[in-house]
Amino acid sequence: MGSHALPRPVLRRRIRGALWALAAGVLGVGAALSTPPTAHAAESTLGAAAAQSGRYFGTAIAAGKLSDSTYTSIANREFNMVTAENEMKIDATEPQRGRFDFTAGDRVYNWAVQNGKRVRGHTLAWHSQQPGWMQSLSGSDLRQAMIDHINGVMSHYKGKIAQWDVVNEAFADGNSGARRDSNLQRTGNDWIEVAFRTARAADPSAKLCYNDYNIENWTWAKTQAVYNMVRDFKQRGVPIDCVGFQSHFNSGSPYNSNFRTTLQSFAALGVDVAITELDIQGASPTTYANVVNDCLAVSRCLGITVWGVRDTDSWRSGDTPLLFNGDGSKKPAYSAVLDALNGGSSGEPPADGGSGQIKNAASGRCLDVVNAGTADGTQVQLYDCHSGTNQQWTYTDAGEFRIYGNKCLDAGGTGNGTRIQIYSCWGGDNQKWRVNSDGTIVGVQSGLCLDAAGTGNGTPVQLYTCSYAANQRWTVS
Ligand code: XIL
Repeated sequence: MGSHALPRPVLRRRIRGALWALAAGVLGVGAALSTPPTAHAAESTLGAAAAQSGRYFGTAIAAGKLSDSTYTSIANREFNMVTAENEMKIDATEPQRGRFDFTAGDRVYNWAVQNGKRVRGHTLAWHSQQPGWMQSLSGSDLRQAMIDHINGVMSHYKGKIAQWDVVNEAFADGNSGARRDSNLQRTGNDWIEVAFRTARAADPSAKLCYNDYNIENWTWAKTQAVYNMVRDFKQRGVPIDCVGFQSHFNSGSPYNSNFRTTLQSFAALGVDVAITELDIQGASPTTYANVVNDCLAVSRCLGITVWGVRDTDSWRSGDTPLLFNGDGSKKPAYSAVLDALNGGSSGEPPADGGSGQIKNAASGRCLDVVNAGTADGTQVQLYDCHSGTNQQWTYTDAGEFRIYGNKCLDAGGTGNGTRIQIYSCWGGDNQKWRVNSDGTIVGVQSGLCLDAAGTGNGTPVQLYTCSYAANQRWTVS
């Protein structure tokens, strides 16, 4: 291609634009047809972004925080599913035997529904947060109290709950694969199926879930034990519709990439799956994105719920495991989650075929070819923005950033620290980039982010694991 020739993608776009103009003229139609169709715009909240694939994005809500306007404005804006953090548990809803109290549960329920959200019910049969009277029961008396409790709570919310966590945390941690010892377990091994059969009869409209933690890692004995129970229930016709994976990830129970295998394996048994109480110690953006992508990869994954709004709302606030800071600002993990829900590359690409600068958010400096060099292998750096041709990049349909017409922004490797250079365009994935709505530019081959290793003139530009920090965010103008 000669130095004055237009890059082919630009030509293609010009021809396509001309055809549209022609079609609009011939048909005599108005504005609706006079512009080419554009790609689906990225959504700007978690709930709306999840809804693009028919899923929800939820949070735990605490009734006591509904008077905090920072809390409610974030919760209302971002989420479209709600779980009562404590208010529908056994101690809250049946403080004395046979005397039900839905005051706090209804506060959460009403806030959710009045704001257009659905509700997950949590939880009906559990060894923890039992009222004192239940803790001291055993045997057939306790079994009957469990049944009465399920009936009492489910009839109050009949027809109103999307999913109920019927049984919570019934398996032991560690390598035994055994049931957890509890007063409910000691009523007989069939207590779980009795709970599910009772629940189905009480409200046939709710999906009935088994919910637990430490069942995300496919290799763990607890995961296999729950899997075997669900398989057995499905074989014997015990009514179960879904499995909730709490997904409280931390150093003792870290995220593992086999989580997707777990979700797929349970779904293959014929149940839906959901991520029900997600929080991640330290809130690594990459780990959050991985979890979201695991759910998106499994058609029976209904949605994701995080266990609280801001870090300061978390039951593990010291782990800063959530998506918002205490002051309500969005954390890097928020951007990672939103971007993953939007398909990872759904940001609007830069001006169609237009040329422009690529400016770094941390430094305000531009992506610049060293000394305006044109040879293959010339390095790319940060430099004060100016109008020179060595800072004029054109984003093509193919996902390249072209400069001087026929040279491409090129990664000569796939690891952290790989230097970015220009190279003759050849169509390889190491010359293709995804421009994301959060300002990151991700190499298609490496999955790593375009990263400025510093802020000054002459700073090299490299590939690096995405951190969503300002040195990895760019505006393309
Ligand atoms: C936690 C709440 O977040 C706390 O406020 C409460 O003190 C204890 O329970 N697994 C569950 C949730 O199923 O109900 C728990 O919620 C966290 C672990």
